[in-house]
Amino acid sequence: MVSESAAPHFNIEPTSNPTPADHRADLIANPAFGRIFTDHMAVVKYSESRGWHDARITARKPISLDPAASVLHYAQEIFEGMKAYRTGNGSIVTFRPEENAKRFRASAARMAMADLPQEIFIQAVDELVKMDRDWVPEGEGKSLYLRPFMIATEAFLGVKPASEYLFVVIACPVGAYFGSGCVSVWVSEDYTRAAPGGTGAAKCGGNYAASLVAQRDSQSHGCDQVLFLDSREQRFVEEMGGMNVMFLRDDNTLVTPPLTGTILPGITRDAILQLAKDHGLKIEQTPIEIDEVFAGAASGRYREAFACGTAAVITPIGSLRRRQGEAVFGDGKTPGDVSLGLKKTLTEIQSGKTNDVHGWIHSIV
Ligand code: PLP
Ligand code: COI
Repeated sequence: MVSESAAPHFNIEPTSNPTPADHRADLIANPAFGRIFTDHMAVVKYSESRGWHDARITARKPISLDPAASVLHYAQEIFEGMKAYRTGNGSIVTFRPEENAKRFRASAARMAMADLPQEIFIQAVDELVKMDRDWVPEGEGKSLYLRPFMIATEAFLGVKPASEYLFVVIACPVGAYFGSGCVSVWVSEDYTRAAPGGTGAAKCGGNYAASLVAQRDSQSHGCDQVLFLDSREQRFVEEMGGMNVMFLRDDNTLVTPPLTGTILPGITRDAILQLAKDHGLKIEQTPIEIDEVFAGAASGRYREAFACGTAAVITPIGSLRRRQGEAVFGDGKTPGDVSLGLKKTLTEIQSGKTNDVHGWIHSIV
């Protein structure tokens, strides 16, 4: 496959109809998660004959697709989730964008999609953030959520990897994904998310489509989120619908499932493991038996649990529920000290309040 250029020049086409400043200020004052979008998007096309081409920052608008486009039939779609933060000194930064670019390439490889060079991924995000910089909200817990994605656009109904793709980045100002406090989590014993050899480690839309019925099930049991177990034995903890999961044991060890190909290699997960080491905690990436977690919560051996991810940041888990009962961490309502301490360190790095000793921050403006 050829590419017109490894890092194409982005044509900048500002919208002729920008959101008025006072309306934008109202929209970003209380944004919730994922319903308000900025004025622009980044778009880059791919064809086997031309490689990546026609890179633009343009007005955000509907995408026109042939009804035979393969994404609509065979779900060749991948995405990423990352955030731009406004720091105390007025600059706007992203967190480890090269990791998102790498994971995007890995997801593309798994889904037999075109390889998007890291420079194009990062340039698209940077140019969009520059263009929509006024949409980056200020204040604790607020950021501009960035959603890079790629879809197969070739009009062809034979089952094969498409020869044409569209890479797009959209952005939305966001607040917390969950409210404050702890979440309750339903352990799904009816549905699994990924099997060995499957697509669990890829960030493809199909994984999320398959998780929705389990997420709905968790809500029907009065929980906020779902936790999946391994598909072979339904014995080991995997991850949640859109987050990784970690537990703190009473021997000051932070434990989380290993990356064996069935869970998403979270960038937040990786950063927290590093920060936990910095805080003097021991870390273990090891299979975790769900029965051990339930017994350990009752005995006090498992003291804290939390979900982690770009959208969720670090969200304390108050309780896990399953048909045979409930596992409560602490009093089930108050976030644990270690979860809060790790969250504070992580968010202070992201908002520029703490020295970025690991070199995780990428400045855009
Ligand atoms: N697991 C799943 C299924 C996710 O959707 C996410 C969110 O992106 C994560 C884990 C956490 O990944 P990251 O920390 O890179 O956002
Ligand atoms: C993210 O954290 O970026 C995700 O993709 C998860 C989803 C809950 C929005």
